[in-house]
Amino acid sequence: MSTPLNISEIRKEFPILEEKVNGKPLVYFDNAASSQKPLSVINTISNYYLKEHANIHRGVHSLSQKATSRYEEVRDKLAHWIGAESKEIIFTRGTTEAINLFASTYGSDNLKEGDEIIISTLEHHSNMVPWHMWCKKTGAKLRIIPINDKGELELDEYVKLLNDRTKIVSVAHISNTLGTVNDVKFIIDKAHEFGAVVLLDGAQALPHIKVDVKELDVDFYASSAHKMYGPTGIGFLYGKAEILEKMTPYHGGGEMIKSVSLEESTYADLPFKFEAGTPSIADTIAFGAAIDFLAKYGIENIAAHEKMLHDYATEELKKMDGIRLIGTADNKAGVVSFLIGDIHHYDLGVILDQLGIAVRTGHHCTQPLMHRFQISGTVRASFAIYNTKEEVDVFIAGVKRAVKMLS
Ligand code: ALA
Repeated sequence: MSTPLNISEIRKEFPILEEKVNGKPLVYFDNAASSQKPLSVINTISNYYLKEHANIHRGVHSLSQKATSRYEEVRDKLAHWIGAESKEIIFTRGTTEAINLFASTYGSDNLKEGDEIIISTLEHHSNMVPWHMWCKKTGAKLRIIPINDKGELELDEYVKLLNDRTKIVSVAHISNTLGTVNDVKFIIDKAHEFGAVVLLDGAQALPHIKVDVKELDVDFYASSAHKMYGPTGIGFLYGKAEILEKMTPYHGGGEMIKSVSLEESTYADLPFKFEAGTPSIADTIAFGAAIDFLAKYGIENIAAHEKMLHDYATEELKKMDGIRLIGTADNKAGVVSFLIGDIHHYDLGVILDQLGIAVRTGHHCTQPLMHRFQISGTVRASFAIYNTKEEVDVFIAGVKRAVKMLS
């Protein structure tokens, strides 16, 4: 059961929502690209630099020790949030780096010619390009789960792709372009029957649904802070400890070692062997504030609010002549992608921007998905906790106005 949220109070925590864009009140519907930040996150960053900054894991002095504990507390908090152990959380610059870390270390350690990797048609380029690179390097083959016209994975076809050569299955938890929530539990369980490891790209999932990696029994999970009200430049890779232990490090450098001689190095224990160099300390600490923000309002309540906005926007768009919704899965998160008549997505986006409405247009870093639908791009509106039904009305009126101007 969800409890309604007091959205007008929540909006006060986001000063940017008071801004005018092109002289109009901002309607921010580009949350799948990056969400806005509450004051608690912004203040955590400035307080850290005002009063608490020092490098971590390196100093006997008090400031360094304090910064270290603040940083490590976030690892504990995040681990708790997703049902992992702290040593299973590797901080990265974001989801993209997390997937690349996995592909380069697990990939280079385990893949050989003839092995197979399964991804899907709806993947973001960040869960496609690393596999193109690693297939080229190792001779492994990429197999693709097709989708149906609603933008759902064809799971019967997925099962047919699995075999003893399948080493990795790497799919999105939620599609950034379509909003499809994939049946990841089924995907994971089937992959495990063939001894394959599974990575989920959770960039679009963590801000919107509760994720428990142990319940899912997923081997790796990648996500970022910046779509869940946290800062850019910080994300993580979760990995099962027993697999991470066996993987070679990603980057070499300070803080990831046990000892270094002129000839060789030995590596630190988990999670530090994957975290070379000085990390993004302030952003990591503020990531903790973003998790507190989500916990304060409750992910189920946020999801229910976003579903209401999604359903309302979808219903209103459906009333328009020439509307084509791209992505109509039965199980969807708060993303609406569409085209109208033969109006170019870019033109629609530019006019909406003139009206103060921020949406994303284009291929959304999913070119193969665009090819599947035989389009060059879509207009995408994506919702967050602070959006309102009134904003959807402004958006719908804006789309109508744009259509009139462009027809
Ligand atoms: N992956 C982000 C998006 O879908 C940037 O917009």
